Amino acid sequence: PDVMGVEALAAKIRKIPHWPQDGILFHDITPVLQSPQYFRLLVDLLVYRYMNQKIDVVAGLDARGFIIGAALAYQLNVGFVPIRKKGKLPFTTVSESYALEYGHATIEMHTDALKQDSRVLLVDDLVATGGTMMAGVNLIRRMGANVVEAAAILEFTDLPGGANIRNEGVPLFTLYQNH
Ligand code: PRP
Ligand code: MG
Repeated sequence: PDVMGVEALAAKIRKIPHWPQDGILFHDITPVLQSPQYFRLLVDLLVYRYMNQKIDVVAGLDARGFIIGAALAYQLNVGFVPIRKKGKLPFTTVSESYALEYGHATIEMHTDALKQDSRVLLVDDLVATGGTMMAGVNLIRRMGANVVEAAAILEFTDLPGGANIRNEGVPLFTLYQNH
């Protein structure tokens, strides 16, 4: 498009029906990442939002939150903390389980990853049920740190995930809302 904005960015996200399982409409951000213009737009939109806020560290959720979060942390000149799926982090960890549509999942963070009272920006690609993002929030809070904001590209407003996160007192910022 001639004018690159959030609408165009959202349109670059590819929708794959019935993947990884029947009934799931997968939102694939790889077309955004593959495009130098759109990847830069994505990161820059977030940089402009946070560059004048006091952020001590960016935490990214495994796996797509790593890609966005690392680029953002670099530009904000702060460190990056990976919150990983269970069994991947080598040092002592704190862990949090959350419900999936079927079963549950666990994410982990290193126990020395965050300083007490530090101001953390939590990043992922999208919020559906909100389970992943909320588990990340819980990990950060359990380490005595503060979530300044949780940020994602996309939020599905037909699901209660975003509302649930905000009800927990966590500011949630999403670039685009899918109605
Ligand atoms: C996807 C997506 C978010 C999460 C959102 O990750 O990247 O992290 O689901 O869903 P929720 O709001 O219902 O928790 P996925 O677990 O597929 O893993 P990936 O990022 O490693 O691909
Ligand atoms: Mg994910």
